Amino acid sequence: MALDHDIEKAASLLQAGDVVAMPTETVYGLAASIASEAGLRKIFAIKERPFFDPLIVHIATWVEKDRVVSQWPAAAEYLAKAFWPGPLTFVLPKHRSINPLITSGLETVAVRMPAHPTARALIEATGSPLAAPSANKFGKTSPTKADHVRRGFADENLFVLDGGSAEVGLESTVIRFNLHEGKTVVEILRPGGVTQEQLEECLQKWGEPFVLARAESNASPGHGEHHYMPNIPLLIIDQESSTLKQNLRDRICEDFLLEKNVRGVELWLDQNPKIAARALYQKMREASDSGASFLYVIRKSAQIGGLWEAIWDRLSRAASRTYSG
Ligand code: TXA
Ligand code: MG
Repeated sequence: MALDHDIEKAASLLQAGDVVAMPTETVYGLAASIASEAGLRKIFAIKERPFFDPLIVHIATWVEKDRVVSQWPAAAEYLAKAFWPGPLTFVLPKHRSINPLITSGLETVAVRMPAHPTARALIEATGSPLAAPSANKFGKTSPTKADHVRRGFADENLFVLDGGSAEVGLESTVIRFNLHEGKTVVEILRPGGVTQEQLEECLQKWGEPFVLARAESNASPGHGEHHYMPNIPLLIIDQESSTLKQNLRDRICEDFLLEKNVRGVELWLDQNPKIAARALYQKMREASDSGASFLYVIRKSAQIGGLWEAIWDRLSRAASRTYSG
């Protein structure tokens, strides 16, 4: 948890229309007050993010949601009671006061209540919900430590609240709601810290008819193909064995116009997906900075379901290519 006087300072900056970096339990965010158009513009400017990619609004208390959304379906209420504060984001019809910069002009807005005490204290001290994308330059790997943010924005005079290492390590799960033939359809736009299995189990208890499904891959604007990119090619290798064979190594060098036998490093994943998720972005950074020419990660067929879905979603978006070993 950051110091009180740092939180006060950050809140003053936000109130004055500036941006600050804040820790959350998923990844660090680049925050602006939703009441400040200047702050919102600055997010896009320093992140170099295109305006078509909408932001998530972060709230600290239950009542604040009414300043952000204009509808609150029963399924949202039930899921929020189970998973907030936490890594679950709802896309819902927006409140009329929400600046279109936040929503990229869409009629819907994304909202979540983060669990990190520093994020919540900052929202309360600012007196306004905060819009925040992950605190990385557009398309790059999300930050899980204050230092990642400082390095990513070394040229900007960015105030960074240090809240330690992000506990979850991957962004929130983004869902939206529809009604179809009397059933609530819950669509997962982005897999993340809350798994499909957890949502399923919770909705079962809810007792109302529902369908839960992954959305078409481009249903969420800005969640494009290439994202979370490290600085060197990342290859996914589908195989059960743990060693990269020489002929595949040769092929990678050929495909990426690298000299034969340059160094490739493995992005090794823990067997426990919770631990793998927490370390993922840090490892991507370390490997990018290691001086190696390429990075590879071995995907075993058992690594499916649960948090593995979000892990492989991010790795697939970061990867240049997939090989079957
Ligand atoms: O864990 C997280 O969600 C982190 C922390 C900082 O809270 N934030 C984050 O923000 O990952 P960002 O901007 O990197 O990703 C926001 C995602 C994008 O995929 C965006 O397209 C989607 O949310 N999104 C936001 N508003 C939307 C809307 N109205 N409709 C559909 N997707 C939306
Ligand atoms: Mg992001």
